[in-house]
Amino acid sequence: MSDAKIVQMPYGAYHKREVPDSDALLTSVGPGTPMGEYMRRHWHPVCLSEELTDVPKAIRILGEDLVAFRDRSGNIGVLQRHCSHRGTSLEYGIIQPKGIRCCYHGWVYDIDGTILEMPTEPDESRIYDTVVHGAYRAFERDGLVFAYLGPPEEVPKFPDYDVYRYPEDNRLVAFSNIYPCNWLQVYENIMDHCHTALLHNNMTVESVDEALKDGLNFPTMFQDIPVMDWETTRNGHGITFIAGRRVDDDTIWVRMTEMIFPHLIQNANLMTSAHEQRHTTACMTRWHTPVDDENCILFGWRHFNADIDLHGSGNEDDCGYDKIDFLDGQCERPYEIGQRAPGDWDAICNQRRVAVHALENPGSSDIGVYMCRKLLRDLAEGKAPVDTTKVMSDDGEETLHSVCSDTTLNVPRLPDRDEDRKLMKEYGRKVYAIVAEADPLPSKDRRNFILARLDELDGGVREAAE
Ligand code: FES
Ligand SMILES: [Fe+2]
Repeated sequence: MSDAKIVQMPYGAYHKREVPDSDALLTSVGPGTPMGEYMRRHWHPVCLSEELTDVPKAIRILGEDLVAFRDRSGNIGVLQRHCSHRGTSLEYGIIQPKGIRCCYHGWVYDIDGTILEMPTEPDESRIYDTVVHGAYRAFERDGLVFAYLGPPEEVPKFPDYDVYRYPEDNRLVAFSNIYPCNWLQVYENIMDHCHTALLHNNMTVESVDEALKDGLNFPTMFQDIPVMDWETTRNGHGITFIAGRRVDDDTIWVRMTEMIFPHLIQNANLMTSAHEQRHTTACMTRWHTPVDDENCILFGWRHFNADIDLHGSGNEDDCGYDKIDFLDGQCERPYEIGQRAPGDWDAICNQRRVAVHALENPGSSDIGVYMCRKLLRDLAEGKAPVDTTKVMSDDGEETLHSVCSDTTLNVPRLPDRDEDRKLMKEYGRKVYAIVAEADPLPSKDRRNFILARLDELDGGVREAAE
């Protein structure tokens, strides 16, 4: 019998016990690894502002042990965790008016690593001139602390996206979610959009009543298996999915959510029913920060504005340290709840600690995941073309565009189901083309342009058409 037949035989687990190595090029992020070095060329959220208190915060990012703090002048420091004198952890340090003091012999470091004081050494000590403690650039914005762990001579501009400021009533609320697994399996989950119709439709139906008693909620908007398509964006530095679903005999819903490499997603809306969307943009901006190869923390901004939280559906108070206000199952819960009403956290953390790509049997719904991996592989290996996307101009007016969008369109149902699904895919492409066409416009004009073009496409929103 051939090897392939043996592996596929019924009751054949004996022949399938070997677990190959994980896909290290994509999953390993430590210093010196290709993915780790690529990631280090970008800004990472490393903790929430609220985690910086009157004591330092020990953090681990990309496999490096660090300490973050806000000194008493309000400056943010991200330093290597172990003191340059004799190695004590600076998480036990004392925050100073300027910098941080090591608890052991009192050396004081500024946020850039410069030694400011050494109480046990003479003023003329040569150590002042010869030693600088390891430090990374950092800043705070809207409740998140960002750090840059790459070469100091290559520090990039922080990418500023249109959806941070538009719609004009938008507010950004910081949150985190802790995932004890490799960063990539959480990140690529967004291209696996078909799971929303199954995992989030709660197939463990008998248990739902019980789970509901514990305050869980289940959205119905995702329940149909979508018609899927994917498109590479930003000259190979991003990818979006385009999902089509039929809402009723006259209406389809097109949803697009984008990954922007190495680890950002801009999620289309999660808070409103499918019927009420007309180019509704980001509900969430989320970075997938690797702690090390077996842990990651999702840091993000929930966007609150009148479009997203149309009926007061969101809850700002439920966004913060390891909590988010949409879809249960984004954080660790009691094991039994996870078993009876599993969510993303339960499904993703248990693809093994580091998912093993060599054991997968991908199908047509996995095309986006595999496209994402191919693009990331090229980026990690330095084979990708230059990202030609615009960065913010110095006057702060021009921002990077976002692809994410939810929209309903007046598209009558075709009698043949396959033809109807083909039609939804075509409309998905048309909506993507409109959003892409708006790319060169200033942020404040993009939305109106897209709305006008959508009206041309389907004759206007339903109220206008009737
Ligand atoms: S170990 Fe930090 S000052 Fe001595
Ligand atoms: Fe999900």
